[in-house]
Amino acid sequence: MVETRRNGLMLAPWTYTSEELCELEIDHIFRHQWLLAGHISELAQAGDYLTFNLAKERAVLVRDESGEINAFHNVCRHRGSRVAPDRQGNCGHVLRCPFHGWTYELNGTLKSVPRPQGFPDLKKNSNALVPIDLEIWNGFIFICFEGAQGRSVANQFGGISEKIRPYKLEEMVPCGAEYDEVVDYNWKFFHDVDNEGYHVPVAHPALHELYGRDYCDSYLGNIPMSTGVVDDYPARSWSVARYNCGFILVFSPIR
Ligand code: FES
Repeated sequence: MVETRRNGLMLAPWTYTSEELCELEIDHIFRHQWLLAGHISELAQAGDYLTFNLAKERAVLVRDESGEINAFHNVCRHRGSRVAPDRQGNCGHVLRCPFHGWTYELNGTLKSVPRPQGFPDLKKNSNALVPIDLEIWNGFIFICFEGAQGRSVANQFGGISEKIRPYKLEEMVPCGAEYDEVVDYNWKFFHDVDNEGYHVPVAHPALHELYGRDYCDSYLGNIPMSTGVVDDYPARSWSVARYNCGFILVFSPIR
């Protein structure tokens, strides 16, 4: 029998390095769960799109002319090229595949095909981009590659809805350039660390100074929750002082 736990608490070391297990996790967890793919502020205008990749899956999210946000597999129905090759942008009135130029309406319908005489049997209405389940919750756009099958993000996070409502997350906009970094760690490392704040006083002294006095880890139902209050104590480090100042400016109405 394969050992999956150590001391009844920790996962066995192999579970962090096994490529076979990682493939199973992608298939059985990530492709079936709602995944955070973006925020509505990134798709403000018709034609704004962003792409999202998970292992071998590729998605494109786009706002159409009626204001709806749609998600599709980012796979052209002709020969499988990405219809949106970049991370983010505005595609105008159509998504145009960069390989042979098939164009799709922003609602996914196949609009036109160059030199259609080469495709006498093509049925346009059977060759729309393939949709992906999408739900917007407090401004955050979630998608589910394998289909949500009735599960909703709003239900899943229902327990914290009231707590976060005052922050008006749906009205947030980026205040700086996006920062992406790919690191060579198993995803469970991040969950292990993010689900406990016990390490913060030693590992992140500035963060501890910012909200550590009241910091606490807890659960609301099965949702792990970390809370801390940014207070008015004079900060010793310049970064905390700057952050504190900005935070108070932005969030002072609900303090
Ligand atoms: S693969 Fe998209 S047009 Fe050919």
